[in-house]
Amino acid sequence: MGRIYIEDLDKHIGKEVTIHGWVYNKRSSGKIKFIIVRDGTGLLQCIMVKATLPEEVFETFGKLTQESSLKVTGTVKEEPRAPGGFELEVKDVGIIHIAHDYPITPKEHGVEFLMDRRHLWLRSTRQHAIMRVRHQIIKSIREYFDSNGFVLIDSPILTPNAVEGTTTLFETEYFDLGKAFLTQSGQLYGEAAAMAHGKIYCFGPTFRAEKSKTRRHLTEFWMVEPEVAFNDLNDNMDLAEDFLEYIVSSTLKHKSNELETLERDTTYLEKVKKPLPRITYDEAVGILKDKGIDFEWGGDLGGTDETVISEQFDKPVMVHRYPAQVKAFYMKRDPDNDKLALALDVLAPEGYGEIIGGSQREDDYDTLVERIKEHNLPMEPFEWYLDLRKYGSVPHAGFGLGIERTVSWICGLDHVRETAPFARMIYRNTP
Ligand code: 4AD
Ligand code: MG
Repeated sequence: MGRIYIEDLDKHIGKEVTIHGWVYNKRSSGKIKFIIVRDGTGLLQCIMVKATLPEEVFETFGKLTQESSLKVTGTVKEEPRAPGGFELEVKDVGIIHIAHDYPITPKEHGVEFLMDRRHLWLRSTRQHAIMRVRHQIIKSIREYFDSNGFVLIDSPILTPNAVEGTTTLFETEYFDLGKAFLTQSGQLYGEAAAMAHGKIYCFGPTFRAEKSKTRRHLTEFWMVEPEVAFNDLNDNMDLAEDFLEYIVSSTLKHKSNELETLERDTTYLEKVKKPLPRITYDEAVGILKDKGIDFEWGGDLGGTDETVISEQFDKPVMVHRYPAQVKAFYMKRDPDNDKLALALDVLAPEGYGEIIGGSQREDDYDTLVERIKEHNLPMEPFEWYLDLRKYGSVPHAGFGLGIERTVSWICGLDHVRETAPFARMIYRNTP
């Protein structure tokens, strides 16, 4: 018989199977011993009864330590009180490897201790659940775009220029060509691809040399970025809300067990349905003033401001038309007010802050040249980008969703460091 996984035990009730895994925990009550085995797909309580086992099999129990690897053979029984709903009546145990002094014990450990041992921490129940939710979110994102006519276009990671401002660039020497930078966003390449395919998305790692030590900032994170030719700001908001509804509802549908393990209250997640509230930046500033916050029109919304605004809504809120002075050079200005950019940020509820940033793009050649100059950016690396405004320029728009912030929100975590398998932050690049 092939290898059986714990998640498939319901197909093997009453049968003899062999599970390959690791010792999660063990306990003993007289002549009955319990080994809790994990195999990556779930936990299984394995029962060893002295009277029914050869002496040498029963004695392996004493040698097993936390995280030792083993093979267990036995009969599958339904047991509603056991984790996962099944247990195994053990017939044989084969030790594969004995672990010595596994450092992460069931007692409480500090978060830095755990982050230093991230390669092992990933095995813990909570971390295991988070990675599975992350996987589902990524899968749902791909499903959404793939089934709605978007073409996946991979944008380069080594790039010759900045997208999101020059203060957060990681740079490296690039042979005889001078400096290259790790990409902050695939957007500019996405725009080129949208002119070739109409609707595209890019999805990959992005980098920001963020000096911010907040619970929302990583230096390396994953971003998915759709870009659509002929879309304006309103179309962009329609896409964002439809997309968010899909990824949240399909994650709730497929990962309810994991969210339960994380003790996530899903009340607010269940409310993520179209339409989502849309407010202007001016209205957002009004909310801050009403709440007694001293906020001057024209500045960017900070983390606490975003929290206060999002707390006024029970769904993600779309804030649009920000002051152009705080936004990127490529954003189109509002034809009705030149001080405003046709920008869009989506703020998650429950204080999780900005998860999406996007805009309608400037599509006029001369205006874009002006913007590049105003932002003191070098013209030469943007020549190709300007070409898109020379040859069949059209209105277009898109946005970027940060994966780690989305995972943090959906899982209800207080820091993004647990949402990436191996998080990179200003003060951490190990393990
Ligand atoms: O708002 P941002 O900077 O937008 C862009 O990069 C656009 N070029 C996207 C586009 O229009 N195609 O970043 C988009 C999202 C943020 O809303 C946030 O979720 C995430 O990326 N993000 C970060 N996540 C973790 N750590 C950081 N340092 C992040 N910076 C941005
Ligand atoms: Mg942003």
